[in-house]
Amino acid sequence: MDELQVDIIGPGAMGLHCALALPARCQVTLRHPDYREGTTEISDDTGRRRQVRTRPLNDPSRIAAALVTTKAGRVASAVQTVLPALDAEAEILLLHNGLGPQDQAADCMSPGQRLYVGITTEGALREGPGVIRHTGRGSTLAGPWRTPVTPGPLIEALCQSSLQAHWEPDPSQVRFAVWRKLIINCAINPLTALHNLPNGGLLTDTYRPAWVALTQLACQVARAEGIRIDVPEMLEQVETVMRATARNYSSMQQDVQHGRETEAPQILGELIRRGRQHSIDMQPLEELVSRVVNSGH
Ligand code: PAF
Repeated sequence: MDELQVDIIGPGAMGLHCALALPARCQVTLRHPDYREGTTEISDDTGRRRQVRTRPLNDPSRIAAALVTTKAGRVASAVQTVLPALDAEAEILLLHNGLGPQDQAADCMSPGQRLYVGITTEGALREGPGVIRHTGRGSTLAGPWRTPVTPGPLIEALCQSSLQAHWEPDPSQVRFAVWRKLIINCAINPLTALHNLPNGGLLTDTYRPAWVALTQLACQVARAEGIRIDVPEMLEQVETVMRATARNYSSMQQDVQHGRETEAPQILGELIRRGRQHSIDMQPLEELVSRVVNSGH
């Protein structure tokens, strides 16, 4: 098997989790605006360890394959920054919540370069510098965003990794999966952030009407966008995720608790924007967003 150089842009919990998951034949480089050229060791609570390189985000060394694991709000600018370093046939996989950055990234890449979008339900938490905790085993799907492409060595490595990623060749199925995740995030993330609860905390009668209403509203927007979502099935799916991740804290809950930027604009803001375009009353979601934003201060 050939050696593969993989750059990970956004070395947060998910970035480090991916770095630890990749097969041994991958040479991993973590890129971040604050990093200097060097090496470091990363590890997790299951005993996995790996030596990785570190480089500044704008380092000119060539990039053949990259995983973008930044928060949704940073994806477009991170891709813009590494653009001059991308090989003519580079592969880039985006792995974030929400909708919007996929098109921004696709717009700035060249025709020979391959953009993939990944959707994962894996969970990881940052415990300290270079150290993470693997909080949930999930599934990972990756596929093309706009037009079908032949998967390259990055996808092969991801499928062989401990993430056991699954390749979905049909862009419309990838879009469908992004929407399903978006609806799940819309139902779980803002309520857990606002009420400071783990995901399973929403399973009580107190919160059920709120997440049911959010799921129904998000499904209405999806259907108006031509995504064939089945509402009862989606409600079941949301509840399944809450049960499966009952003790985990959602990414938005963690961001609000730590005073960090959230993915609310790409999850909730994007739903509101698209809902309004279809003349759907998005006021319930607008109110929730402003309560979440204010709860962080
Ligand atoms: O954003 C998150 O935390 C996750 O996508 C999810 C599915 C809500 C589980 O915590």
